[in-house]
Amino acid sequence: MLFSNTLAAAALLAVKASATIFYAGVAESGGEFGVYSATAQQGYGLPGVFGQDYSFIDKKGIDVYVDKNKVNLFRVAFLLERMCPLSYGLGSKFNETHFNYYADAVNYITKTKGAYCILDPHSYMRYNNPSQQPMTGSIIGDTKDVTAATTAQFGAFWKELAKRFAGNEKVIFSIMNEPHDMETNLVLANNQAAIDAIRSTGAKQLIIAPGNSWSGGHAWTQSYTGYSPSSADAMVHLKDPLNNTALDIHEYLDVDYSGGHSLCASPAPENLKDLTAWLKANKLKAMITEFGASNGTQCESYLTGMLQYMADNEEYIGWTAWAAGPFWGTYSPCCTDSQQWGSLEPGSKAGDGSPGMYETVWLKTIQKFVPKKLVWKGTSSVKGGPLSKRP
Ligand SMILES: *[C@@H]1O[C@H](CO)[C@@H](O)[C@H](O)[C@H]1NC(C)=O
Ligand SMILES: *[C@@H]1O[C@H](CO)[C@@H](O)[C@H](O)[C@H]1NC(C)=O
Ligand SMILES: *[C@@H]1O[C@H](CO)[C@@H](O)[C@H](O)[C@H]1NC(C)=O
Repeated sequence: MLFSNTLAAAALLAVKASATIFYAGVAESGGEFGVYSATAQQGYGLPGVFGQDYSFIDKKGIDVYVDKNKVNLFRVAFLLERMCPLSYGLGSKFNETHFNYYADAVNYITKTKGAYCILDPHSYMRYNNPSQQPMTGSIIGDTKDVTAATTAQFGAFWKELAKRFAGNEKVIFSIMNEPHDMETNLVLANNQAAIDAIRSTGAKQLIIAPGNSWSGGHAWTQSYTGYSPSSADAMVHLKDPLNNTALDIHEYLDVDYSGGHSLCASPAPENLKDLTAWLKANKLKAMITEFGASNGTQCESYLTGMLQYMADNEEYIGWTAWAAGPFWGTYSPCCTDSQQWGSLEPGSKAGDGSPGMYETVWLKTIQKFVPKKLVWKGTSSVKGGPLSKRP
């Protein structure tokens, strides 16, 4: 008995030693706020007032996550239509005032706190009308739509953004949040244009590339009518001259993988196994930059099952949970059937005044899965880097 326990423990250690989470933390949602119009009024909320309609981070919340929770990764959302106003078009001309607000958030995370930061254009591979995002807006690169920005414009946008952050080793470039309902080969073409543009600036940092179908892990190897091939069959063709690109995966645990429901029903290990096999066969890595679950005991085994699965499989190099952010108040970013159970923002409260999901989900369940040692120095990389406690 004792002997076999020791063997089992040794086997477990062997698995642990080969699989490493290098980067772990939380998504910061708020930069994409303030543009939803019930009547789909184009241009509603643009540019919006910083600090009133939208904001990127609350520095006090970042302090708590880094100083107390010892996370080393944040994913900070912004809207393409604010960085590149419609009057300029998508491309290399930025709204400098807006850029400076964003750069301030990125620099706080990376320079002041020493953590890594994913730049997240939260625009669903669409540009020009976020009034009912995720459904509105012209698909970038859609040659059948005369109002659509081109793939070349998307490349110009990425070249400019990458150039501005090329000297910041703590940055990670996320090409786009959740492309959906478009040609998978166009996702591939836009991804490749972004990678080429980023590398043309000399930037060496990690890039994470999405697939189609909201970048869902469970959907990665499936092809849908009208949207073939599968993300797997398309993204296998991505080329990065530095081999420093990983896949950017989202995975929710409810019945339709939307993150809308409070009941969990879709176990991640089962739903990620085909993706994992594909990653392994192609020697690729992934980051899961959106996942989440409700508070309460019903979801707990699903959430721990997912975090343990990422810890156990070397294909997964990092994760950010959805979501913290400065403007949620009592509202919930996911997983509550629209009830106000709070967010992952430190200090968050539910609508009834009880503790929000920072306490009821992050501290209760997620925190144990933040590795004691993470990467705190060096250029962001698909290979990770030296592991240490927070310096
Ligand atoms: C640029 O951003 C600032 C700050 O949000 C805003 O006041 C200004 O109107 C924006 N300019 C354009 C062209 O959108
Ligand atoms: C990238 O990977 C390819 C295929 O394994 C290899 O031939 C190439 O030398 C690698 N490039 C770098 C910069 O590591
Ligand atoms: C989540 O937290 C809220 C607020 O405290 C509570 O009302 C609700 O019952 C909890 N949900 C579950 C599934 O336990």
